[in-house]
Amino acid sequence: MRLSIVTALLVGSSLAAPHHEKGLSLNTLAQRRGKLWFGTAADIPHTAETTDTAYLDILKKQFGEMTPANALKFLFTEPEQNKFNFSDGDYFMDLARHTGKSVRCHNLVWATQVSDFVTTGNWTAETLIPVMRNHIFKTVKHFGDRCYSWDVVNEAFNSDGSFSSSIWYDTIGEEYVYLAFKFAQQALKEVHANKVKLYYNDYGIESPGPKVDAVLKLVKELRKRHIRIDGVGLEAHFMVGGTPSLADQVATQKAFIKADLDVAMTELDIRFAQEPFYTAEAQRQQAQDYYVSVSSCLLSGRRCVGVVVWDFYDKYSWVPYSFEGQGGATLFNDTLEAKPAYYAVADALMGKPCSVC
Ligand code: XIL
Repeated sequence: MRLSIVTALLVGSSLAAPHHEKGLSLNTLAQRRGKLWFGTAADIPHTAETTDTAYLDILKKQFGEMTPANALKFLFTEPEQNKFNFSDGDYFMDLARHTGKSVRCHNLVWATQVSDFVTTGNWTAETLIPVMRNHIFKTVKHFGDRCYSWDVVNEAFNSDGSFSSSIWYDTIGEEYVYLAFKFAQQALKEVHANKVKLYYNDYGIESPGPKVDAVLKLVKELRKRHIRIDGVGLEAHFMVGGTPSLADQVATQKAFIKADLDVAMTELDIRFAQEPFYTAEAQRQQAQDYYVSVSSCLLSGRRCVGVVVWDFYDKYSWVPYSFEGQGGATLFNDTLEAKPAYYAVADALMGKPCSVC
């Protein structure tokens, strides 16, 4: 008991500053290891994040990439049929440009956060395909090469590897995935932005299993049809104590890389199933899980292009809103202090043993 209080005090005092001893950012450390960036999601604009100067300061200093948590989703970019609103996305892009960050554009076709006109419409494949095509063309052409990549299709599979139900799959069948990638590729060509990477993004594909097999099969199918896919996004929404092992994460990333794909960890966060979130032991286990996850991208080699956390401040994390009673998932606690997890990530990026695990 006494020891754990001392440990907690020591850990707490050494962690007050949001950078490690040399003051290098997570992004700088990642780039030194050949990664494109270390990034974060941010839910900007129209949220507290937009004007929180302490938060924005860390965002600017620590990260080299930002992913819009919501601003580019169908619901916001095309709220009514063929009435596009790119003002939120443009705001986000301007912030990224002014602060020198890459953007992973997220996402074009998903079951969730789709506008009512799509989900309530009485569609056939013949009428829904042009809707999907128009959405992809207008959105991709508007943002052009301001995107480093597009998550073209998001979360298309169940855990057993079968296609999951969505307005797109239920109406068009699996063809919707091939068409989505084809349309994105064509749209990029029209604005001479062929360098923008096309990604498939999903959770539950960070360790071997039927879902990984389904994604590899999808990649084969796309290539058979001469449709471009450049990478796979591994969301990596993990649970403290339930994070896939280093060996499993590396094996999976290597399987994708072997299929001539880039991989990125796109939405990393590691949540607690229940309180307490901030005891020394809880923090140590979380640090260990972050250490393993970030290390996997380094061990997989250059084609794991980078790691993105799904926001970095517990106060702004999506977890408590989506999973009742759960939380504490990010690198900074609810008063914006760097947690052991932050230092574990820095250690992983420096190739050092974990000093806080
Ligand atoms: C989440 C956002 O963070 C929330 O603000 C929103 O209410 C729901 O979506 N997988 C994804 C992300 O691909 O788009 C999700 O983002 C988290 C799970």
